[in-house]
Amino acid sequence: MSDRIHTLSGYLYEYQKSVAQPEEFWAKIADSFYWRKRWSKVLKWNFEEPEIKWFVDAKLNITENIFERHLFTIGDRPAIIWEANDPNEEGRTITYRELFHEVNRFANALKRKGIGKGDKVIIYMPMVPEAAIAMLACARIGAIHSVVFAGFSSTALADRVVDCEAKAILTSDGNYRGSKKIGVKSVVDEALEKSSVETVIVYERTKQDVTMKEGRDFWWHDVIAEESEQCVAEEMDSEDMLFILYTSGSTGKPKGVVHTTGGYMVYSQYSFDNVFQYSEGDVYWCTADIGWITGHSYIVYGPLLAGATTLMFEGVPTFPDCGRFWAVVEKHKVNIFYTAPTAIRALQAYGTEEIEKYDLSSLKVLGSVGEPINEEAWHWYHTHIGKNKCPIVDTWWQTETGGIMVSPIAGITPTKPAYATLPLPGIQLCIVDPEGNELTGNSVEGNLCVKYPWPGMIRTIFGDHERCKQTYFSTYKGMYFTGDGVKRDHDGYYRILGRVDDVINVSGHRLGTAEVENAINEHPKVIESAVVGYPHEIKGQGIYAYVICDMTNRTEDNLINEIKEMVSKIIGPIAKPDKIQIVSGLPKTRSGKIMRRILRKIADGSHDTMGDTSTLLDPEVVSQIIEGRK
Ligand code: WTA
Repeated sequence: MSDRIHTLSGYLYEYQKSVAQPEEFWAKIADSFYWRKRWSKVLKWNFEEPEIKWFVDAKLNITENIFERHLFTIGDRPAIIWEANDPNEEGRTITYRELFHEVNRFANALKRKGIGKGDKVIIYMPMVPEAAIAMLACARIGAIHSVVFAGFSSTALADRVVDCEAKAILTSDGNYRGSKKIGVKSVVDEALEKSSVETVIVYERTKQDVTMKEGRDFWWHDVIAEESEQCVAEEMDSEDMLFILYTSGSTGKPKGVVHTTGGYMVYSQYSFDNVFQYSEGDVYWCTADIGWITGHSYIVYGPLLAGATTLMFEGVPTFPDCGRFWAVVEKHKVNIFYTAPTAIRALQAYGTEEIEKYDLSSLKVLGSVGEPINEEAWHWYHTHIGKNKCPIVDTWWQTETGGIMVSPIAGITPTKPAYATLPLPGIQLCIVDPEGNELTGNSVEGNLCVKYPWPGMIRTIFGDHERCKQTYFSTYKGMYFTGDGVKRDHDGYYRILGRVDDVINVSGHRLGTAEVENAINEHPKVIESAVVGYPHEIKGQGIYAYVICDMTNRTEDNLINEIKEMVSKIIGPIAKPDKIQIVSGLPKTRSGKIMRRILRKIADGSHDTMGDTSTLLDPEVVSQIIEGRK
């Protein structure tokens, strides 16, 4: 690819160019894509509304850029290598041509069910190739997909179905995870009890019993049986919605982050190509789930747009044993491996014995995403997995950014443990103090903002543009605020310090403290609760909940278990609090605001340095909480 950075000076040159002449810079990159109609203007924007338009008036279909654009040259190349949960089950390898045909057949099936341009389709599926086929089939016909992580509960799924006004749900009978077989369709049934979704298509994976509602539910293999493998792609405007992906924020319910077609396409391929330095023939493996943005941009869209071979893994790192990742690397001769710090820390705890059984010499590049990687995990990853020869790309980005923002370019940018290093070309970062003053120069620390648009950025929150404006564009005028704290060191390198808002990052999964509190408060015995994150050895952050309860007829232990179950039912097992402390009161200011700063200090054990508590309504509460600390 001609826009590939090859040297450090090349990176610096591209970066300078992208700042000096952003429109020319992105137009040149966009030139290598297939547009049915070219743009009239590269960029129109303001961060006040906000209104962001890339490749204005251009027409395209993203799937034509995966398939038609280079099918003559890459038709027989593996697009997806699929590794099943059970190592004894045969995997699948799907070439670009086969994938193209499957996408078209399923796209035709969707059309036959009356689904078309602008319709919202929820995908609630395990990690099987059909999940990617489902996403691409939606994109082919202009339907807007919203993938919901299959570990979310029926309540969480129902909220998303209602919020995005979904017309159809694509799902499976069940899901294999490690030694377990989990019902998936049954969760959909529960979620749909009070909904008007017209069509449910069920992919048969586990062959477990399911109930099929006449006229609404259909089997995947039945609906594609008679369909043609040709389907003309729908013409989309560059700013037409491509997908909605729900993510947690500081307040309220999860919000539907909207990404559009042209800009997301250009940015996901450009960032994939450059960060990982993929070369033809490489096998690339990202261990994320397609239910998260990492799965969207770096399992499906980025790699497939780049013509890469992307490995999709159905299982978990510890099944049948904790050597599974390394067994898969050896089996498929994986060259580029991209995972989350939480997985690295979890596997680190098992020692190196399981690693030494496998040949990892195919590895060239290692990646990290989702949360800050601590230095110890970085060194372990570098030494034991990369054998001191693979660069680590620590990639910082967010659901809202669509693609990687700050990261080394593999093998080119000198790395530094725990540092995401430098911004990609086109990304104009800015560090601000709490008043919004830009902190210039090096050796500074503050809040991370971006002051100029990039093609992959969020356009709105589905159904609530005002919330988009308030959340990201109002804290600091004229800037996109990320919610993360950051340090720029003496070399100008960036180190992400973690969230500065009420979002917690548990095993790389984003959760809002308010969201968890709302779920806890659903328990009839709960009077009030406050949730904070605290440092957790494996998960990065754990969830600590302080709860005021009516204890009549309940013991502390059974109440704690009931609350955990409640959260699991309302959000999903990932949101289950690690620690629940029943308290008699919460530290509040005289105006009734909970002082989370204090609760955080107690949770992480640093309450010796509590600071000023004189503004508290009842300082006595604090010593009681410290005494009962878990
Ligand atoms: C955090 C995941 C440090 C950060 C792609 C961000 C990171 C949030 C890194 C977004 C990293 C992600 N180093 N922190 N390399 N990558 N984060 O939306 O706090 O699930 O704001 O997107 O994860 O999480 P999200």
